Amino acid sequence: MMGKNIALVFASNPDFSITLYRRKAAEVSDSIRENSQPLIAKGLMNADDLEERLKRISLTTDLENDAIKNADLVIEAVFEDMVLKQEIFAKLEARCRRDTIFCTNSSVMSPSEISAKLKYRDRFVGTHFWNPGHLIPLVEVIKSDASSDETADKVMKVLSAVGKKPVLCKRDVPGFIANRMQHALWREAIYIVEQGIADAKTVDEAVRYSFGLRLPQLGPLENADMVGLDLTYNIHEYILRHLSDQKEPSPLLKKLFNEKKLGFKTGTGFQEWAEEEKAVSSAALNEYLVNMLSHNFTKASKE
Ligand SMILES: NC(=O)c1ccc[n+]([C@@H]2O[C@H](COP(=O)([O-])OP(=O)(O)OC[C@H]3O[C@@H](n4cnc5c(N)ncnc54)[C@H](O)[C@@H]3O)[C@@H](O)[C@H]2O)c1
Repeated sequence: MMGKNIALVFASNPDFSITLYRRKAAEVSDSIRENSQPLIAKGLMNADDLEERLKRISLTTDLENDAIKNADLVIEAVFEDMVLKQEIFAKLEARCRRDTIFCTNSSVMSPSEISAKLKYRDRFVGTHFWNPGHLIPLVEVIKSDASSDETADKVMKVLSAVGKKPVLCKRDVPGFIANRMQHALWREAIYIVEQGIADAKTVDEAVRYSFGLRLPQLGPLENADMVGLDLTYNIHEYILRHLSDQKEPSPLLKKLFNEKKLGFKTGTGFQEWAEEEKAVSSAALNEYLVNMLSHNFTKASKE
């Protein structure tokens, strides 16, 4: 899922040629074409542009391929398995140049641990793309306990050169930057349902119709500065003791998990999901993201 979308992102820049390594030969062009349709429909990419991008992506199933031996930068996006990731990088280190930059797209695993057994650890960073990788601009660049500043700088520049919004996570911590905040919010959202304060649909609406609208424009810390840190201090002094500080998954989440009520994939989670409701939800998200990108793109071209 992530690998092909990351390849598409890099192919946006004609200065780069991309080699997608997979264990088994399989055509990915059709799935990349399909993923790109919403972008084409919104005029963010035209069909010729897409074909040009696809020409810059070659496929290989051979780790001895010259493209790997000569690579300037490698992004790993294999299964979320520590041993597998360590093995892949050991194989890469045996084949790539000393100055090839190594990146892992792991969502949660520590770049320090993934790179622990490498000989040259300074050239290694985490690059956490968000799904869908070709639509969400953010990439968290995570420094391990041994990444050099130079490596992090270069990776930030390369990501900017392919239209991404890189942010630097200066320390290797679980959840990096954005997932720590995302899951702090999810913990409280689940707690509100668990405590019978509101049902799941209401909790989501309370976000979508209030501060959720502001978030793409106004981050929490700019917001705090805007309303004043005296107000923020007083609110926190009053409210923080009432919020969830659970240190493990909530009892409600555990119950649903144990009952195999897993959300879209089983039809029931915090809410019931009919087939057409799932399709509407996924399509609405994609449409929303493409609209946001199109808006930002128009704004950026005017600036
Ligand atoms: N899916 C997401 O929302 C998301 C978001 C951000 C980051 N990530 C991270 O990206 C990585 C990949 O996730 P995904 O969702 O694309 O998974 P995926 O299952 O779609 O892809 C994993 C790929 O790894 C390949 N693979 C497995 N063993 C391999 C081996 N020995 N050698 C080479 N390839 C091998 C599989 O064939 C598969 O193509 C994970 O580290 C994940 O944490 C995922």
